[in-house]
Amino acid sequence: MKPVRAVTLWWVLLLVSRLGATRKESLEEASFYYGTFPLGFSWGVGSSAFQTEGAWDQDGKGPSIWDTFTHSGKGNVLGEETADVACNGYYKVQEDVALLRELHVSHYRFSLSWPRLLPTGVRADGVNKKGIQFYSDFIDALLKSNITPIVTLHHWDLPQLLQVKYGGWQNVSTANYFSDYASLCFEAFGDRVKHWVTFSDPRTMAEKGYETGHHAPGLKLHGTGLYKAAHHVIKAHAQAWHSYNNTWRSKQQGLVGISLNCNWGEPVDISNPKDIEAAERYLQFCLGWFANPIYAGDYPQVMKDHIEPFLSYMQIMTEILVPTVCTLCILIAAVLLMLLLRSLS
Ligand SMILES: *[C@@H]1O[C@H](CO)[C@@H](O)[C@H](O)[C@H]1NC(C)=O
Ligand SMILES: *[C@@H]1O[C@H](CO)[C@@H](O)[C@H](O)[C@H]1NC(C)=O
Repeated sequence: MKPVRAVTLWWVLLLVSRLGATRKESLEEASFYYGTFPLGFSWGVGSSAFQTEGAWDQDGKGPSIWDTFTHSGKGNVLGEETADVACNGYYKVQEDVALLRELHVSHYRFSLSWPRLLPTGVRADGVNKKGIQFYSDFIDALLKSNITPIVTLHHWDLPQLLQVKYGGWQNVSTANYFSDYASLCFEAFGDRVKHWVTFSDPRTMAEKGYETGHHAPGLKLHGTGLYKAAHHVIKAHAQAWHSYNNTWRSKQQGLVGISLNCNWGEPVDISNPKDIEAAERYLQFCLGWFANPIYAGDYPQVMKDHIEPFLSYMQIMTEILVPTVCTLCILIAAVLLMLLLRSLS
């Protein structure tokens, strides 16, 4: 299948109009800042399971690393807030779908909670039927309202048991468990879901989860932990993509992509080659880190030049047949949309 690049532009315009204030505008720029959206542009909103569902220990759901992180009592989150209830979305399917109808959106992007479907994270340990039923009903309710579901498989809330037993994304086994989980989701929901996102913003997950410790699982494995985590995430994405391509695509005709979050870097002085190089290096470390392996089968050269551990990882990368992506979303402050929805509910 030919890769289609779908770029979500939700908040780009805000950002660009601020940057553009100091520049002399070309006709093309003017149309970008002040033009209208093309006919057929799809408007949507998005959320994630942990931020909205609540019901953190109900109906057989296992704990996620974010449940543990917020319950730690160590001040990991401002005011010791938890998402035990959050928007209470688990109990508000009809209300939430009504809110989406009110917003007149045609698409809703949300994530599935891996430990709600597989309490230990491992498919062989058992599937939580109530979890399957919950998402199945939600998907049906969206479709009944003519809202297309865009389903993220993993938005940071890793099953806690995979963290405790195997070290989470530090262990390549987690990529295999993810692939089994992804297959379960394709099997259970793929008759109705045609847009899949394997991971949402894996860069933040790796950096803040395994390097700075600001996010769950709160590890500070300085120097290499984030690259190892990212490496296993990329493998997990590729495995899930190939499993869809090999087993489900012919029957279900869907698309499988990934959502990458990137900040933009510009040279401070556009006549200084060092600044230009620094801006490019920044983008490669931000976006190329994940996009290059997925599109081209290898890490960006500039990353390999700067980071020693990549040398031993290179061989492993060549297993991934490319391109392993049908859609690429660039994520810009989707959280703001989340908050908007939340304040309405
Ligand atoms: C990685 O996971 C496997 C199980 O899939 C386990 O046997 C192994 O001990 C784990 N490695 C580490 C370093 O935790
Ligand atoms: C995806 O599946 C199709 C049909 O089986 C196959 O021809 C193609 O090579 C696969 N793509 C990749 C990248 O493996």
